[in-house]
Amino acid sequence: MAFTIAIDGPAAAGKGTVSRAVAAHFGFAHLDTGLLYRAVGARMLAGIEPVEAARTLRAEDLEDDALRTPEVAQAASKVAAIGAVRAALVDFQRAFARRAGGAVLDGRDIGTVICPEAEAKLFVTASAEVRAERRHRELTDKGVQTDFATVLADVRERDARDMSRADAPLRAAEDAVEIDTSHMDIDTAVATAIAAVETAV
Ligand code: C5P
Repeated sequence: MAFTIAIDGPAAAGKGTVSRAVAAHFGFAHLDTGLLYRAVGARMLAGIEPVEAARTLRAEDLEDDALRTPEVAQAASKVAAIGAVRAALVDFQRAFARRAGGAVLDGRDIGTVICPEAEAKLFVTASAEVRAERRHRELTDKGVQTDFATVLADVRERDARDMSRADAPLRAAEDAVEIDTSHMDIDTAVATAIAAVETAV
């Protein structure tokens, strides 16, 4: 039986970790839809026209470690504002969502546009400062040279672009359960998310 859990929210709110843990808990497949936009962004940086890049995206394009850099994140949020890029990625995401055995999709517009009929919807958020602190730690741990002010400016710029675009802007679906992880550790955020899914069914 298909069962879809939609998890949306801004960058570095803990969505990815929560989504992976929720998927593991329920034994569902997981799709990080940000990777689709990152892969298109990376292909644009390599000189491919973004709509063409979205239409010809292959599964192996999603498996590149280079997709995790701040440059690719910025490129992703730029191509994500192009309606024809978003349109080219809809069918793949919807098919994934309705696969047998259940699916967790995380992104920006899963509960609002991709899967408005999802059985459970969560909106995972945190203050921009807390998110920038987490992202800064993550990048530093990976050996990337950066400072907090740059990461905070980057998070704010991406938030502003994601929330203000005309097509599928970042916002919580009306029926989404909001989880603010600003003052939660990961275990608490995951437990809160699992409890919210359980009450949604
Ligand atoms: O989640 P992640 O930070 O990897 O996403 C990268 C960018 O892709 C976001 O800033 C956003 O612009 C875009 N995105 C989107 N819709 C989604 C997932 C990601 O527009 N469902």
